[in-house]
Amino acid sequence: MTQPVVESPQAAPSDRQKAAGPDGLRGAGGDQDPCAIEVRDLEMRYGSYVVMRGINFTVKRGEVMVIMGGSGCGKSTLLKYMIGLRPVQKGEILYDGQSFSKASPEEKERMQRNFGVLYQAGALWSSMTLAENVALPLEQYTRLGQQEIQEIVSVKLALVGLKGFEEFYPAEISGGMRKRAGLARAMALDPAFLFFDEPSAGLDPLSSRRLDDLILRLRDSLGTTIVVVTHELASIFTIADNSIFLDADTKRMIAQGNPKDLVQEGHSHPKVRDFLLRGELSHERKGSHEPKS
Ligand SMILES: Nc1ncnc2c1ncn2[C@@H]1O[C@H](COP(=O)(O)OP(=O)(O)O)[C@@H](O)[C@H]1O
Ligand SMILES: [Mg+2]
Repeated sequence: MTQPVVESPQAAPSDRQKAAGPDGLRGAGGDQDPCAIEVRDLEMRYGSYVVMRGINFTVKRGEVMVIMGGSGCGKSTLLKYMIGLRPVQKGEILYDGQSFSKASPEEKERMQRNFGVLYQAGALWSSMTLAENVALPLEQYTRLGQQEIQEIVSVKLALVGLKGFEEFYPAEISGGMRKRAGLARAMALDPAFLFFDEPSAGLDPLSSRRLDDLILRLRDSLGTTIVVVTHELASIFTIADNSIFLDADTKRMIAQGNPKDLVQEGHSHPKVRDFLLRGELSHERKGSHEPKS
């Protein structure tokens, strides 16, 4: 089996921070640099059904932000708003200080070129080889020649540990490898932002762990800003620099912070701690005085 190969995987945190602003946005007014992502007072709804309101959070450049919460609370919906699959009616979403939700269709499309998205199922074309799958966005969005495209495809597949699997079809590889191939495709256009919806769904614990390691390596070596929807606790504690918790009952975001801090007593809403402790709190309470769930 091949190893994932990533350029300078040992980039020190200081390098990462430097790498975060190669475009010169960082500099004189260092602290006033716009956040990579800013969500302001967002309301999410399907028709008249409000999923969640008053969502406010920021993501720093080169950070892994995890969106957590129970099933059906609106995690996937939030991702859809963030990548522009649902129109923002109330609130605003900004990338690098520029409004995404209020941008013109052309401008929005230009900003979306900076997004790589890995959907839950990986969504590879089954009739195409891995190389053809990864080449697709390059053929669609660039004017690169076949030779250059093939070179980029090989680099991207090597990046996710799939060097040598170029000519394989999705059905010929494991679920974890398919996820990584999907990631290679999401990375094809060197996106500054990566979005994952439940990346470890359906993976065995080792493949899931390997995907987590890969996410962290992309963050550290490429400075990619990464947003991950997941409810897998092991992943949450491994990859999150920051997180938000969506609560379906109140239709509000009720916590933001590093999960390792949020799980400490008194540092977040008991519901959030209970989630992060896998129901330990409500279980204990039930045992002692049998209250409502
Ligand atoms: N296309 C849709 N139309 C109407 N309601 C939807 C649609 N997609 C999701 N919902 C509803 O919105 C809520 C949030 O869904 P979703 O974002 O998929 O939750 P999660 O990803 O956290 O499990 C749920 O109540 C779900 O039933
Ligand atoms: Mg979902």
